Amino acid sequence: MANHQSNGQNGLQQGQIVVVVVPFPAQGHLNQLLQLSRLISAYHIPVHYVASATHNRQAKLRVHGWDPISAANIHFHDFPTPFFPSPPPNPNASIKFPSHLQPSFQASLCHRDPFNTLLDVLSPTYRRIIVIHDSLMSSIVQDIPYTPNTESYIFHSVSAFTTFLYFWETMERPFAIESEILKDLPSLEGCFTSEFLKFIRNQHDHIKFNSGHLYNTSKVIEGPYINLLAKKQITKNKKHWAIGPFNPVTINNNYNFLRRHTCLDWLDKQAPNSVIYVAFGSTTSLSDEQIKELAIGLERSNKRFIWVLRDADKGDVFDGEEKEEERRVELPKGFGERGMVVRDWAPQLEILGHSSTGGFVSHCGWNSCMESLSMGVPIVAWPMHSDQPRNTVLVTKMLRVGLVMRDWGRRHEVVEAAVVEEVVRRLMGSEEGDEIRRRAAELGGAMRRSVAEGGVSRRELDAFIAHISRYSEI
Ligand SMILES: *[C@@H]1O[C@H](CO)[C@@H](O)[C@H](O)[C@H]1NC(C)=O
Ligand SMILES: *[C@@H]1O[C@H](CO)[C@@H](O)[C@H](O)[C@H]1NC(C)=O
Repeated sequence: MANHQSNGQNGLQQGQIVVVVVPFPAQGHLNQLLQLSRLISAYHIPVHYVASATHNRQAKLRVHGWDPISAANIHFHDFPTPFFPSPPPNPNASIKFPSHLQPSFQASLCHRDPFNTLLDVLSPTYRRIIVIHDSLMSSIVQDIPYTPNTESYIFHSVSAFTTFLYFWETMERPFAIESEILKDLPSLEGCFTSEFLKFIRNQHDHIKFNSGHLYNTSKVIEGPYINLLAKKQITKNKKHWAIGPFNPVTINNNYNFLRRHTCLDWLDKQAPNSVIYVAFGSTTSLSDEQIKELAIGLERSNKRFIWVLRDADKGDVFDGEEKEEERRVELPKGFGERGMVVRDWAPQLEILGHSSTGGFVSHCGWNSCMESLSMGVPIVAWPMHSDQPRNTVLVTKMLRVGLVMRDWGRRHEVVEAAVVEEVVRRLMGSEEGDEIRRRAAELGGAMRRSVAEGGVSRRELDAFIAHISRYSEI
């Protein structure tokens, strides 16, 4: 209180702080920033979440475990957005990056004006405005240096490992790092379209005006890389906090009682660690040929499985939802007796948290990695694009909690059924697999302790909140 008063005399406005959150419009990013909004609002700080109407709707609809609409302290703003085409994904594309989403990314760059208008509205009422934006949306917030009592923080929704390497390489390797990291490190070739690389570069041109960085990762899994990011050559003495994972690590079964997915009932009937979960996230579509090989390989492995088989999201996930225009690939005859194929939105966290689940065939998107590792489930890596090839290195080589299914160097080839069969068996039915599972379980335990009260991730979030609500001059 004493502080409060003395700052009133300094001319700073009395009253609360407010947070404005600017997500990047792809599912993994929308979700992370919505979860962050929930965490911040729990400190009694109002949060404004800004996106196009369709992306706000998508984020709210797909959230698991809590209801963002009834969260009194979170305010959604549907920013006017120009029409953008929403073509279906191309399952045959040689680069797996979801280039069909590009028009939706581009359209969201028009939010600079409504964003500035919102700041003008909030500015007189609050002591300080804190903007937290996805690193890929930096151009939207570029006018912040001209707005009174406002500061901005960059949210990185990818691993510290890949973020560090990105900065370090674009700065032309300002210092030496452990050679083990660089050995066999996949280049960025084939990870993005050239259009999207240009988009990233444009956004990164605007990140110089920030007050700090937030990472959705945990010191428990990425301590060494968080320390590398902290070096002043990289983040120029800016503050940073590693506040992840923060998915609900204990699953609230009551909430989902009424709409429990049938695959969870099926899991209840299986033996501990006997099921392998197969899912490639919301931005990947497999070719017909690949789907068949995967099906045959799973069948031959003789292991039980849950396979989420769906196409990548479209830029507007609600576009064409009434029409039955989804591609539906025929699976081999008699397929699926040992498992379940899920074609709708699967409760991934619940599946990973279930004791029957013993492995995860994953594209290694950062969300999936964090969810799997926090649940102690080892990963079979099948990277598709973006940061995924490097996350694969982190998971399989640095942390040693997974196996590689798809070698990035052979990304243009179909992964054959024989490879699927062999790697699934190695993870689910060998001593090597048990060893990997034991390490994953250990890491999962450490991660869950880190987000509990008094844990290291929780303390980081407390420290961030204390920092943004401090009573000193900006
Ligand atoms: C992809 O290739 C298959 C043949 O392998 C073809 O039947 C299908 O129409 C193609 N799909 C698209 C969207 O080009
Ligand atoms: C961090 O990532 C996890 C895993 O994807 C996600 O569930 C969680 O909501 C994210 N946390 C924040 C604060 O964004």
